[in-house]
Amino acid sequence: MKSILSIAVLISSANAFFTQPSAVAPSTAKAGETRRHPTHLNASKNRRKVASRTTWSEARGYGTATSAAAVSESDPSPSAADVVGVGGRKAAPRLIIAGAPASGKGTQCESIKAKYGVVHLSTGDMLRAAVSAGTDVGMRAKEYMDSGRLVPDEVIIGVVKERLNSPDCAESGWLLDGFPRTLEQANALAEAGVSADCFIFLNVPDEILVERVVGRRTDPVTGKIYHMTFSPPDDEEILKRLEQRSDDTEEKVKVRLGQFHANVEAVRGSYTDIAVEVDGTQRPEEVSAMIMKTIDAALT
Ligand code: AP5
Repeated sequence: MKSILSIAVLISSANAFFTQPSAVAPSTAKAGETRRHPTHLNASKNRRKVASRTTWSEARGYGTATSAAAVSESDPSPSAADVVGVGGRKAAPRLIIAGAPASGKGTQCESIKAKYGVVHLSTGDMLRAAVSAGTDVGMRAKEYMDSGRLVPDEVIIGVVKERLNSPDCAESGWLLDGFPRTLEQANALAEAGVSADCFIFLNVPDEILVERVVGRRTDPVTGKIYHMTFSPPDDEEILKRLEQRSDDTEEKVKVRLGQFHANVEAVRGSYTDIAVEVDGTQRPEEVSAMIMKTIDAALT
């Protein structure tokens, strides 16, 4: 559930810890090993974080006008050249963000997009837009999405490849959110000659994910993502118009998590040389800071 803006654009076009900061160059990862951000938490630490999240959200006003989504809308995204060209980098950024359902991909994409000026390509948003528009892809995808299952590879791969070939992606770079989700999808990108600078994996335990999914609401006017416990809107009018995604139920998230776990290692295995694992249980601002460091390191 990302921004309405990105949906409009999409409709219109087709485990070892690493011990160094995330600025470590990708080449330091050993074969078969994904680097983790140094603040990665173990399971018991994660449980402690669960207990404290409501407190930080309430205290710090996560979800208010200072959120990433609001920043993104008030400050138009800079061009990729403006942002990264000064560092000596020639090409536009090519980024992949992955993680389980509700791990925070959409939340983080808003600030990544704002900083690097890349085109945000969320396959979930693309598919929801296709379903709403009643396109052939949408009609084929609907029953899978409604049940929480992955849409067949042949339905989604062509859509993504076509979108990546668009001039805006070539000029500004891209941020793939929710793709690739299967080995076949990763292979399809490789066969098409599409490579990335960085593969960011948001690590969040399942028990936290269920809570995030069930409480998520989206503002249909701004596209902003809220959570009824952790980041509810302050404004009564916004509260009244919030929508819940049809696949954001406890029953369906179990199916979605099953699909995620069945495929995630194969996908991560395709990007071991550029993969960085980020602890997604931290506050959104902290997760964002870790991601920015990771991307900056990958782009220089
Ligand atoms: P998609 O829309 O991509 O769903 P998803 O991967 O399940 O991811 P979500 O959008 O649920 O979560 P998110 O990680 O973006 O989290 P968010 O930032 O919103 O896909 C939907 C469906 O489309 C799939 O099930 C499948 O059917 C199909 N599909 C899509 N891509 C496909 C593909 N490649 N192949 C096949 N089928 C495909 O955050 C969640 C909540 O947590 C929010 O309430 C937010 O406020 C809160 N939150 C975020 N960060 C934090 C934090 N750090 N602390 C506390 N709360 C937080």
